Formats: sequence, structure tokens, C-alpha cells
Amino acid sequence: MLRQQDVGHRIVVRRIVGIREGRPLFSDALGELVELSETHLTLATAQGQLRVPVAQVHRAKRVPPTRRPTAAAVVALERAADEAWPAPTRGRLGDWLLRSADGWTGRANSALPIGDPDRPLPAAVDAVERWYAEQGQPALINTPLPLAAPVGAELDSRGWGSRPPTLVQTAPLPLPAQDTAVARNGSAVAGAGVEPVTGADVEPTSGAGAEPVPGADMELVAAPSAAWLAIAAGRKGGLPDAARHVLTAVDQVRFAHAYADGTLVAIGRGTVTGQGRWLGLSLVEVLPEARRQGLARAVIAALADWGRSAGATHAFLQVEQRNTAAVALYQRLGFTTHHTYLTRVAPH
Ligand SMILES: CC(C)(COP(=O)(O)OP(=O)(O)OC[C@H]1O[C@@H](n2cnc3c(N)ncnc32)[C@H](O)[C@@H]1OP(=O)(O)O)[C@@H](O)C(=O)NCCC(=O)NCCS
Repeated sequence: MLRQQDVGHRIVVRRIVGIREGRPLFSDALGELVELSETHLTLATAQGQLRVPVAQVHRAKRVPPTRRPTAAAVVALERAADEAWPAPTRGRLGDWLLRSADGWTGRANSALPIGDPDRPLPAAVDAVERWYAEQGQPALINTPLPLAAPVGAELDSRGWGSRPPTLVQTAPLPLPAQDTAVARNGSAVAGAGVEPVTGADVEPTSGAGAEPVPGADMELVAAPSAAWLAIAAGRKGGLPDAARHVLTAVDQVRFAHAYADGTLVAIGRGTVTGQGRWLGLSLVEVLPEARRQGLARAVIAALADWGRSAGATHAFLQVEQRNTAAVALYQRLGFTTHHTYLTRVAPH
């Protein structure tokens, strides 16, 4: 339970919000503890202040604070993210990376301008434009901010456009809210995983913290099934040959498959890169008819357990700021924004 020393720190609170069929209904909140009295606690959450009667608190604990990362930390994470989403065609411009993957995803088809490009900035941007023209593709540059703000200013002066901002979010492992997650039916779920699945590449997700969703079976496998790829193709607008490389050409990779009645209803992908430190989460997707049943949370919990067992100490993901459902999901799991990036697009 909380004490006065916790005031001013980030905490996660699981509170009882009702009773259904004799069982408590829980809801989790994450934020800074601004006040703690004998009767109430007040949290500053991303959605505003939340006042919770102490009598409703089932569990509460401190979670690590958010801090502004150093430039070196941004560079290390961007390099780990590049390893986790490897473009098959690559070039270098000094430290800058040039990446191409048949146009599949902005990340794998954009230059990453971090470090020294070995030439003045305008010449570096000219060289990026030439390289992409040789690939027969529009030139894109991903600018992590504020690190690559000088590059952004150069692109502004050339009239480059911008896609909506992407948040690069991180959380320590185990995920701060992982052990306080709750199933949709209101019962607390923890520990006891799904039935073990046999097969060379298949891992049951029965590790501590994995969250079985009633009626869903989770599998983590080293290669995606055809059904998994079909869902990914639906989200990303097709899957050219280069996409398979991007998805699978990582030493440590797992594809989460969540089945309900034998049908694949949710997917996710996990990688471990960055000298084994970073679990990268990507392509978390739940079929529309299966949403808000805890499946995304269960997919992420299973991948987080796997990442931890593979030695990762932190998780990262990239999410468009305007994707409110996904941002809410990740916030609920304890992710915070490490930095942002803009995908800049050369004028036609
Ligand atoms: C985002 C997505 C993966 C969430 O999947 P899901 O299985 O519905 O999520 P869960 O049921 O596990 O939700 C867990 C919590 O996340 C939050 N959340 C999820 N969807 C939300 C939404 N649409 N609005 C607000 N909060 C939401 C809630 O806190 C939810 O808990 P609650 O249902 O008890 O309130 C799903 O909407 C999806 O597939 N979207 C399209 C693909 C996508 O955007 N993927 C992420 C790319 S980065």
C-alpha cells in the first residue's frame, strides 16, 4: 500500500469499481500521486485528476518515473528499432542509414539521419534524394525529435511535407501494469497460462504475468502463419516480398497468434534487439469483432514474458499519436513516450 513518501511519484492503482455476479470489477489507473489522505488518494493521470476513495483501492504501487532521454539513448533506441524492422536494401551516408523495402512501411523506406553524414547537411539531403531516385521511390526521411531538428529545419526550407507524428514509447520489463491487468469479465487474471501447445517452434505462454483471456488460446511461434500474414497484409496494404524479410530477418523474433474457437483473432510481433536489451513490439492487431476483450493486452503480455525470458530489460513500440485506441492501450500497460519522430516526404 501507499505511504506519504509516495506523494509526487508515479503510481499504478487497481481499484474496485463495482460488483458483478458476486465478483469485484477492477479498473487500473496510472499517474502521479498528488495527495494521499486517510480517506482518499488523488492521481494526476494523462486524462486529468482522479480522486479515488481509499476503500476502493485493491492494490497500489510505485512505478518508475518518466525522464527525458539523452541523445545517446535516442540513438541507441533508434538503432535497436532499425534492427527490429530490417529493410532488405540498405545504404550508408556516413552514420546515416538509407533503407528500402519495396515501399512497404515508412520505417523501412526512409533514411534515418542520426550521427554524422560525412558531408554538409544540404549535400546529405541531396544524396538521400538521389539514392531514393535510384530505387525508383519517393525520398522519405524519419526525423527523431528533438535530436534531428536541424535536419527537419533543412527539410522545411526545401518544402518537404510530413506524415502525422509517431510516438516511440518504452516501458521497463516486466511491464509496470502487467501484473495488475484485469480480464473483461472483471475477474483478476494472472499466472496460470493457456494449455501448453506442442511443436518444434511453438511456445506455450504460461510464464508469470501472461494473461489468459477466457476462450482464447495464445501461441508464440518463430514464423508467422498464413493467417497471421493475411491480417498483417490487411493492415499494411499488402505484403510485397520485401515485407517478409522485414518481418522475419531478425535473429530473435516471435509471432503471437491468439485463437478463439480455432480462428486467429489477434496477432502481434516481438523482437529482441539492441544487444539484447530491447523487446520491440509491432503489428499488434485485433480483429474488429474481437476488440475490448483484453486480447491486445494478452498478446503484449505473452510477448513481454518471452522478451524477458530472452534477456530483454525494456520494451519499445512505435505508435501514431492519432491512434487513440492504441495509445490508450499502451498507456494502460505503463508505456510512456521516449521521443517522437516525423516521417518527412520529399515534394513531388
Ligand atoms: C489497439 C487495439 C490493438 C486494441 O486491441 P483490444 O484487444 O481491443 O485491446 P484490449 O481489449 O486488450 O484493451 C485493453 C485496454 O486498452 C484500452 N483500449 C483499447 N482499445 C481502446 C479504445 N478503442 N478506446 C479507448 N481505450 C482503449 C482500454 O484501457 C482497454 O481496457 P478496457 O477495455 O478494460 O477499458 C485494436 O483496437 C486494434 O487492433 N486496432 C487496429 C490496429 C492498431 O491500431 N494496432 C496498434 C498499432 S501501434
